[in-house]
Order: sequence, then C-alpha cells, then structure tokens
Amino acid sequence: MEFIKLNNGIEMPLLGLGTYTLTGKDGQRVMSDAIEIGYRLFDSAQMYRNEAELGDVVRGSGVKRKELFIETKLLDCANESKTKKSIESSLKALKVDYIDLLLLHNNYPNAKAMYRVMEDFYKQGILKAIGISNFGVSAYSDFIKSVEVIPAINQCETHLLFQQVKLQKLMQKYGTILQSWSLFVGGRDNIFENKTLQNITKKYSKTPAQMILRYLIQRGIIVIPKTSKINRLKENISVFDFSLNGEDMAVLLALDTNKSQFSWTNY
Ligand SMILES: NC(=O)c1ccc[n+]([C@@H]2O[C@H](COP(=O)([O-])OP(=O)(O)OC[C@H]3O[C@@H](n4cnc5c(N)ncnc54)[C@H](OP(=O)(O)O)[C@@H]3O)[C@@H](O)[C@H]2O)c1
Repeated sequence: MEFIKLNNGIEMPLLGLGTYTLTGKDGQRVMSDAIEIGYRLFDSAQMYRNEAELGDVVRGSGVKRKELFIETKLLDCANESKTKKSIESSLKALKVDYIDLLLLHNNYPNAKAMYRVMEDFYKQGILKAIGISNFGVSAYSDFIKSVEVIPAINQCETHLLFQQVKLQKLMQKYGTILQSWSLFVGGRDNIFENKTLQNITKKYSKTPAQMILRYLIQRGIIVIPKTSKINRLKENISVFDFSLNGEDMAVLLALDTNKSQFSWTNY
C-alpha cells in the first residue's frame, strides 16, 4: 500500500474500498474479506446506511484501530445543533471514538454552518481530518474563502472520461487532495472495453481495471473502487508493483471529455 500525506500531516492510504451498496451480511462479508486482503481505508456515508455494519466488521477484525482509516460523509443538516447530533450518530454507529476523515457529502445550502461544526470536532481530535465532496471549481473557490480549516479532501466523480484536471490543479494551490468516486464510471459506459485503454493494458500484463487505478494513483488521486467480489478485491489492490510511463499517462489523459457521466452532479 502507498500513502499520501494530507494537509495536516496525516497519512492516508491511496487506495481503499468504496462501500456504496455494501449492506447487510453480504456487505459485511466483502468488508471482512477486504480487511483480510489488506485494505485499510473504507469509504462509508450516512447515506449508504452501512456505518453500523462497517463498525462491527472493524471491531471484530482484530486489526488495530490506528491501522485502519475510516471515512464517512454527513447528510444535510438544517442547523448547527443537528449537525453536532449527526456527527455523534456516525461515531456511535461506527462504534469508534474518532473518525479518520469526515466529509460533507454535498454542497448543501447549509454547508458552511455544517463545516464549522466539523471544524469544532476536528479541533477536539474527534475528527482527525475533514473535507468535502462534490464541490466543483466555483463551489470550492467560494467555500474555502469562509473556512478556518482547509478541506483535506474533496471527493468527486473522477474517471477516464471526466478527469477533473482543472479542479485538481486549483486545489493543489490550497492543499486539498482529490479523491475519486466512480473511477470505473460506476460500471457504466463499457469503460473496460475502451480501445485506447485496452491497447495500453496489453503492454503491462495487467487488467484494464488495474490500469485505471494505477493511472489515477500516479496523478496523486485517492481511489476507492467498489466491488462485491473477492477476486476483484484482490485485483484492485494489486496496483503497487508497476508504473505507467509518461507516454501512456499522456495517452490516458487525452481520453478526458471533461463531462460528468451522472445526471445528478453539479460540477
Ligand atoms: N461522494 C459521492 O457522492 C459518491 C458518489 C458515488 C460513489 N461514491 C463512493 O465511491 C465508491 C466507488 O464508486 P461506485 O461504487 O459508484 O463505482 P465504481 O467503483 O466506479 O465501480 C463499481 C462497479 O465496477 C465493478 N468492478 C469493481 N471492480 C472491478 C474490476 N476489477 N473489474 C471489473 N469490474 C469491476 C463493480 O462490480 P462488482 O461489485 O460486481 O465487482 C461495480 O459494478 C462508492 O462505493 C462510494 O464509496 C461517492
């Protein structure tokens, strides 16, 4: 596993498990398998309704808490006292006394007030790092004007067809790291069948999925592929034993259409 240093000095794994749709006993089996295989970063959210399941798996895993990196995201809250309660409910569901990284799930109308509460928890050490999700260039630029703690992470749709080059460049100036969601385009658009990707893949004795993961990691982007299959858990984490050369990086960069593939986003 490789790590990246956040803007507050904390080390975060560059690859973890996305847990959207991993719920119930089946979801827990995948999370347990992931821990056994070597995954240490888990991306959950209040919206995914699996914080409690993840908390049980983490507790029963036998892996030291400090070796795990638990990330979750807040749903919209109407005011500061509801935000406080909401953070407490995530801590309770996850059965932890601190969360490694808490994100605002979206640029909610009340995002700034919610973030102020997150900053309070951060100062108390209950949140080790804080950040945001789904903030595009203009939302991010506006948001950071009002914050005391610069977001460590902005988790956004990022994949070969929508590479977020402008956003990543802007955030580098302020020390916010891009984390990719749906790096396989959520299984859409036949991304693994892309001819350019397949041609490059042949040179490396790797799979198209591994090429995508490695490409994003080499751009300094944190990846959280979701899978429900044990063989793919192993495949997706096996990306730290090779590197793409500069020429192939440039070819994959040229696949960028700079367009979201999801109708609900607002970048
Ligand atoms: N912040 C946000 O608003 C937001 C939005 C969306 C997602 N997320 C986070 O990002 C994570 C990842 O995004 P995602 O779940 O939308 O999708 P994704 O990781 O882009 O893709 C998952 C899809 O790819 C398949 N897959 C996984 N590994 C594969 C492999 N090696 N070869 C072929 N197919 C493979 C999975 O199928 P199988 O399960 O059958 O393997 C699934 O259909 C989520 O789980 C969640 O944690 C955040």
